[in-house]
Parts: sequence; structure tokens; C-alpha cells
Amino acid sequence: MRPRPLGRTGLEVSEIGFGAASFWGHPAFPEREAARLIHRALELGVTLFDTGPAYSRGRAESRLGRALAGRDRSGLVIATKAGTFFERGRVRRDMSLSAIEASLEQSRRRLGLESLPLVHLHGPSLAELTPDFLEGLERLRGRGLFRHLGVNSFDPVVIEGALALPQVDTVMLDVNVLRPERVSLAARAAAAGKGVLAGMPLAMGHTAPPRPGDLRLSSVWYALRALKNHRADRAAGRRFRFLHVRTDITGAQALLAWVLGAAGVSAALVGTTRLEHLEDCVAASGRGLPPDLAMRIERAQAL
Ligand SMILES: NC(=O)c1ccc[n+]([C@@H]2O[C@H](COP(=O)([O-])OP(=O)(O)OC[C@H]3O[C@@H](n4cnc5c(N)ncnc54)[C@H](OP(=O)(O)O)[C@@H]3O)[C@@H](O)[C@H]2O)c1
Repeated sequence: MRPRPLGRTGLEVSEIGFGAASFWGHPAFPEREAARLIHRALELGVTLFDTGPAYSRGRAESRLGRALAGRDRSGLVIATKAGTFFERGRVRRDMSLSAIEASLEQSRRRLGLESLPLVHLHGPSLAELTPDFLEGLERLRGRGLFRHLGVNSFDPVVIEGALALPQVDTVMLDVNVLRPERVSLAARAAAAGKGVLAGMPLAMGHTAPPRPGDLRLSSVWYALRALKNHRADRAAGRRFRFLHVRTDITGAQALLAWVLGAAGVSAALVGTTRLEHLEDCVAASGRGLPPDLAMRIERAQAL
């Protein structure tokens, strides 16, 4: 597994990270299988794990903490979020300093960490990133609650604004073949000294052809989520089905090679519930994108 520097944090991370979220953390996905994925990821050299207090109906963070308990975590970058949480059946949002402080304390307990290596504000607005707010976060950092601060947003205006803030060490944005406009943003972020984490690098599975015979609970759950929340991306993903028919490279590897080939990206965070998928993704480390595929992706993006 290839390491990459995470901006100016002084940290190095595996270029493929594990996203502990979605169905991986869902109560319907057995905890033993979830833990096996984490342990296999560690064996394969994954050193970056991303989660959040609001993920998987509030279950993902503590599940990750349990899976990593007793393991040597000294070389790992365990990243979590602040500003959102899960309560009474829905994701709620509170970007106040007091809520963030409480959230950080809870994340430390759930993850079994004295100090959180990396915390991303989960979807802040630009207006919320005031000097007072950032000063307050610095005080929490000074108390050792966390070491590095990031901003996670799918809004390019927010990411762009975060690039000018010296308190912000990393940004997490959606970088995948369906979002070619993120490539220049990622490059600008890296040029500003920020670590760049690519979420949803596999475009949440939207480019893959449907597998009607696949009745695994996770597959059905992902398919229903796509129908409910991501119809436009699912439709756009059809243009990239050619990625999934090659014999020299798998679809997931091609998608990851494209993301990791974007200038400035520090790591891609993949979400999976299958060991064979994890191994397939990890094998993308160090693989370049075949030039003919790079050209076809560019043509499909221009459509
Ligand atoms: N989605 C968001 O809103 C969001 C927001 C902020 C940050 N992030 C970060 O990004 C991470 C990844 O996001 P994500 O899980 O939504 O999207 P993703 O990684 O782009 O895609 C996940 C989908 O790809 C499938 N998959 C994984 N490996 C595969 C392989 N080798 N071959 C074929 N299919 C494969 C998974 O199914 P299987 O389970 O069957 O493998 C799942 O359906 C999150 O865990 C989080 O850390 C996400």
C-alpha cells in the first residue's frame, strides 16, 4: 500500500482509506463481519479510517472503536466528524462550540482515543466559520481534544472558503468520475497546503451495472438508497459502465486510479461490506489508469 503525505499535517496516510459508514456500520450488518473488514484492512496496510458520530444511525463510530480496540493504533489516522449527530431516528446538526466540544468528548470515548488525530466539521456553512468559532476550536485543540482540523463539504464554495483558513488542515470532498469539476478544486486545496481526502471515490457504486441476482442485504440497501436519494447520479453513472467490463482492471480499480491520479488527492476513502471488494480496492494502490480508459472517461464526462 502506498503512503501519501496528508497536506502539511506531517502525517502520512495509506492512499486507500476505509470509510466506516453507511451499511458497514448499520445494525443489520453483523458486527463480526464489520470487524473482520477492519482487521483485513489493517493487514493490507490501510492506515486511514474515517467515520462520524452521525454515520450509520449513530452506530459507526463506536463500532469502529470496538473493532480497533487492542490493536496498535499508533500509526493510524482515525478521522471522525463533528457538528452532526444521530438522535431520535434522524441526523441532526449543531455547529455550536458547546455541541462540538461534547461531540469530541463522546468521540474520544467511543473510539478509545486520548486525542482525536483528525476531525472534520461535517457540512458547515461558510457563515459558521467565523473567527470566534475558529478561535474556540483552537482552544479545544489546545486542550488536546483533537490534533488536526478538517472541513467536509460537498459544496465547492465552502471548500474554497476553507482553503484560506490557516486553522484548517484538511478538506474532505466528493471526488469521483461523476464530479470532474472537483479535480481543479482538489489541486487548489493541495496548493494551499491542505490534505485532500476523496469521499465517495467509487461514485457510491452508481457506475456499476445492476446485479439483479445479487440479493445480499447490503446490495438491496444500497440499491434502495440510490433510488431514494441519488437518481440523477445513478442515471449519470450509466455512461461509465464501460469501466466494468475490462479484463485488465476491475471497475473499482479504474475508478480509484482515476481519483488517485487527480493532482493533490491524498487518499480515497472507500466504503465496503465485502472482503473481496476491500481486497480489490486495495489492489488499486500504485496502479495507473490505462491511457485508453482515461480518454474514454474524459469523453464520457464531456457528454
Ligand atoms: N457518502 C457520503 O455522503 C460521504 C460523505 C462524506 C464522506 N464520505 C466518506 O467516503 C466514504 C465512502 O463513501 P461511500 O461508501 O458512500 O461511497 P463509495 O466508497 O464511493 O462506494 C461504496 C459502494 O461501492 C461498493 N464497492 C466497494 N468496493 C467495491 C468493489 N471493489 N467492487 C464493486 N463495488 C464496490 C460498495 O458495495 P459493497 O459494500 O458491496 O462493497 C458500495 O455500494 C465513506 O465511508 C466516508 O468515509 C462519504
